[in-house]
Amino acid sequence: MKKLSIVVLAAGLGSRMKSALPKPLHKIGGKPMLEHVLESARQLNPDRLIVVYGHRGEELQAAFAHHEDITWAKQETFEGTGDAMKYALPYTIEDSTVLVLYGDTPLINAETLEELVNNAERTRLNWLISTFDNPTGYGRIIRDHNNHMIAIIEEKDANEAQKQIKEINTGIFAVCQKFLTEALPQIDNNNQQEEYYLTDIAKLAANNEITIHTFNEAPELIQGVNDRVQLATLERYYQKEMAKKLMLNGVTIDDPESLTIRGKIQNDLDCHIEPNVILEGNIVLGKNVTIRTGSVLRDVVIADNTTIHPYSVIEMASIGKNADIGPFARIRENTKLGDNTRIGNFVETKNTTLGNGSKAGHLTYLGDATIGEGSNIGAGTITCNYDGANKYPTIIGDHAFIGSNSSLVAPLKVGNHAATAAGSIVPKDVKDHELVRNKLEVIHVENWEQPHKEK
Ligand code: UD1
Ligand code: CA
Repeated sequence: MKKLSIVVLAAGLGSRMKSALPKPLHKIGGKPMLEHVLESARQLNPDRLIVVYGHRGEELQAAFAHHEDITWAKQETFEGTGDAMKYALPYTIEDSTVLVLYGDTPLINAETLEELVNNAERTRLNWLISTFDNPTGYGRIIRDHNNHMIAIIEEKDANEAQKQIKEINTGIFAVCQKFLTEALPQIDNNNQQEEYYLTDIAKLAANNEITIHTFNEAPELIQGVNDRVQLATLERYYQKEMAKKLMLNGVTIDDPESLTIRGKIQNDLDCHIEPNVILEGNIVLGKNVTIRTGSVLRDVVIADNTTIHPYSVIEMASIGKNADIGPFARIRENTKLGDNTRIGNFVETKNTTLGNGSKAGHLTYLGDATIGEGSNIGAGTITCNYDGANKYPTIIGDHAFIGSNSSLVAPLKVGNHAATAAGSIVPKDVKDHELVRNKLEVIHVENWEQPHKEK
């Protein structure tokens, strides 16, 4: 078997993005475009994976520093795709098959690439093309009277007749390394943009009696991203595909167009997702989980029959069965909510465990708290866990009743079946079956009238 070198061109200026970020770092589905390309490339088990970088290359390299299989090639000049390839060539394996990919064409799929690579030989060059209703901006495929592909003409160099051609260049092709080595130095920059076009390889191949075989791919999968309009088009296409997978896996999605997935979702039977939900990281959903509108979840495990009510934000948390969360809940990192728990509106939790059947229904902050089973946390309760320098724990037992507006001054323990009265400030531990209330004087002023504004 011939060896395989894959070259990803990712050094372009990406100026049409109007961005300080290198173009390959712009994200689709929460993942840099370059990462999508690399994931597909790796499925072919290349013997070498070369990324050509240049513009803000340090940033690009830093973002991919953990990808140890990448051979980085630096493009010192910025004179087009043909120029970029010159910097990659020394790293390609001698006599290998070279597959060229672009860093701004993220949705290319591995099966298509397999086909391209499998039969690229000395006498044939395999080119991936597509047919676009509106081909504006893409290089066009030129064929001879026998319908053989013989060249690519860039939009800027095309005449009116050529601009009518709907067959376009995806930029992706597989070629034998030997021919590439011979052909690259022959590419010139006699064109509108005064750039070295890698696409001129096609013309050189045809002139050397190498047959160019074209392979077709669906337009959606090979769209390039040059500007943010194209980025959004691809993002939505990708999201629709993700939503489709989920629906085919048994999730009811009210509005697939408005769901955003930036990670991996596992689901059991009969989950339901309402419009405008964002799911990030690793999300695991049990049976019958409902995520209502406007909720944003990242790295969350949710057990059976739990409902996340509208506009809840949940990250790095696990939630038990039959729980009811939100609306407007904010569940933060390292929160563990047991079965049959209830978290209501404007409740924030962080580093907190809530035992089975416990509830915090309204307007509460629970930080560094461990709460047992069947306890009720009244409205407006605050764990005062921070003294400005350090954080302290609050431990509440089973079946405790924390009255509304209690300030629990940590470190603090509240026992089983203990209670705090409404409005209590609780600086000292409360024993089992003990009630605390603050000594306070309630003054009634009689015959009081609301002040009136002078006319
Ligand atoms: C290119 C093709 C065009 C094709 C289209 C498909 C050429 C000359 N044109 O046009 O035929 O239809 O892609 O999307 O190849 N790059 C470098 N160094 C450079 C210039 C570019 O590494 O000096 C990289 C870019 O980072 C990008 C890729 O090459 O990933 C394509 O460059 P871009 O400028 O986007 O080319 P297009 O105008 O889209
Ligand atoms: Ca492009």
